[in-house]
Order: sequence, then C-alpha cells, then structure tokens
Amino acid sequence: MSNNLEERYSLNGAKYLAQQKYSEAIALYKQGIETDPTLMSNYWHLCLALLLQEQESEAMATWLSILEKADIEKVNIWTLDLVKVLIAEAIRCEAVSDFESARKMYGYAGIARSEAWKKVKGYKFTDDWFSKNAPIWEQYLIHLASKPEINILEIGSWEGMSSCWLLDNILTHESSRITCIDTFEGSIEHKLEYNDSYIKSVQERFDFNISQTGVSNKVTKIVGSSQDVMRSLPLINYDMLYIDGSHLASDALTDAVLGWGLVKVGGLIVFDDYDFKFPNSVDAGQDTKIGIDAFLKAFCKKVNILHQGHQVIVEKTSC
Ligand SMILES: C[S@@+](CC[C@H](N)C(=O)[O-])C[C@H]1O[C@@H](n2cnc3c(N)ncnc32)[C@H](O)[C@@H]1O
Repeated sequence: MSNNLEERYSLNGAKYLAQQKYSEAIALYKQGIETDPTLMSNYWHLCLALLLQEQESEAMATWLSILEKADIEKVNIWTLDLVKVLIAEAIRCEAVSDFESARKMYGYAGIARSEAWKKVKGYKFTDDWFSKNAPIWEQYLIHLASKPEINILEIGSWEGMSSCWLLDNILTHESSRITCIDTFEGSIEHKLEYNDSYIKSVQERFDFNISQTGVSNKVTKIVGSSQDVMRSLPLINYDMLYIDGSHLASDALTDAVLGWGLVKVGGLIVFDDYDFKFPNSVDAGQDTKIGIDAFLKAFCKKVNILHQGHQVIVEKTSC
C-alpha cells in the first residue's frame, strides 16, 4: 500500500473515531485490511473501534487471530503497537475526565498484553479468570518485583495462570518463592460447569504451565484444602497472600483469618471475587463478599484498604 493510501485510512479513521462514528470506522479499517493485510495499524485501530462500540469479543477475536499468525518477535512488537493505541485512547479519555472509559481502556491493554504473554510462554490455559486483574496487580505489586526472598502464598491455583503471572512478573529474583495450595477438585460452582474428567485434568495443566515458567524450583505445590493446610505453614513468612479458593463466605473468612498470622506486617492480602454471586441452586446467600466484609470489619484497625473492586487488596499494617 502506498504511503498516501495508508495516510488516508489513518486520517479518515481518526476522523470517524473522533465523531464517534464507530461503525464507519470499523468498515473503513476492515476495508484497509482487505486492501493490504500487511498494514498492521489498521488492525490496532479496528480493535480500538470495536472496543469503543462495546464489541469486546470481536475485538478479542481480532487480536487472537493476529497472535495466531505471529512468531515471538512479532508478538512482542505488535503487542506494543496495540497497547500504544489503547493507552493513547485511555489518556484521551482522562483528559476529558471520562475516567470510567479510561479505566476500561487500561484494562483492555492489560488483557492484550496477557494474551501475548500466554502465547510467548506456550502456556495451556482453558479458562481465564485472571487477565482482568493483571493491570491492578501491576500497580499494587510492583514494589515486590525482582526483590530477593519474596514469598507468596496462593490459595486456589487451578491451571496456574495467576501463579505463572507472579513467577514471570514479580518473583523474578532467584531467591523468591510461591506456595500454591489447591484441592484440584474444583470449587462447588465448578462442579456444575465442568465434568469429572475435565476437573481431573486441571492439575496436569497446572504442572505443565508451571514447568513452562522454567522456574518450577520456586514453586511448592500443596494438594489439599486451604483450611487444613494453612494451619501448618510458617508464621509471619509471606509478603502476599492471595485468596482465590472456595468462594463460600465462610471459607473466604476462614482463609483470611488463618492466613492473617502467616503474612508479614507490610504484606498484602488479596481477595478475589468480591463480586461473586452463587447461583440460586448453589449456596445462594453465601456470597464471598459476606466473608470478606466480616474480615475487613474485624481487622479494620490493622489493615489499610488499597483497592476495592472485583478484588480487594489490603496491606497488613500491624499484628
Ligand atoms: C477460581 S479457581 C483459581 C483460579 C486461579 N487463581 C487462576 O488464576 O486461574 C479456584 C480454585 O480453588 C480451588 N479450591 C476450592 N476450594 C478450595 C479449598 N477449600 N482449598 C484449596 N483449594 C480450593 C479449586 O480447586 C480451584 O482450582
């Protein structure tokens, strides 16, 4: 494609986006891709236009189809290009005080990076409950990254997506470690969704993914119920406790109380699924939030709440 044509797509597309004519922008970028599939900027702007039109799954499908074709070098370059476009939009939204849209765009950039990360490392994940948390973790866990002797305790690992992310991004010093506790039997709600043979295969995928990190020596896997296992773990030992096991209010509360003595002062406790709701057929009224709120109320003088959204992140400020 000549530079003139490239410029035309870019200018006309930007005009449509500025006028919030997202369908026109989508049609234009698709036409650009048809005319010259090697001009990558049309893909990034197509993703942006689809996101602005709230067609998240189509945007994701576009990004995944590109990743599928890319070698590792291209994955890294293209991820940077897409992320630049999304962050520029986030900054534009912030400039007009549209903080909700900006937050969404930063989240999409995090998901784009996360998909690229999975591809580069060759992980095998069949579920993704984690990617949406990555931008929040980048923000609140950055002070732990690459430090020596950081210890993390994770309750609920499933296929290991959060564990692998922590190993790749935070626990990068050779002396840092993670302990992963999981029954590998799935939670109550998983039993409705998945059959027995699928649930049995989860631990195998956890082991595979951990081996893909190249640092499986940093991982202690403990198969069992967190409510039993945590009683025998060392006190005041962990810089972060991640609670993502059973979502029952009573279990989330028990995990937090048992974990309290294990976490160092200054350490973090991260609760997942603050907004999780059990379906009516299973434990209705026992939602995770009830347990987390009970903990927050009892420990309010000893914690500093850093973040409260889908996850709750607190810092332990005293014993
Ligand atoms: C939502 S998944 C964890 C997701 C994982 N953190 C990730 O990033 O993909 C919840 C996990 O908690 C485990 N689990 C449920 N109840 C548990 C318990 N009482 N003790 C230990 N693990 C438990 C389940 O087997 C399941 O693997």
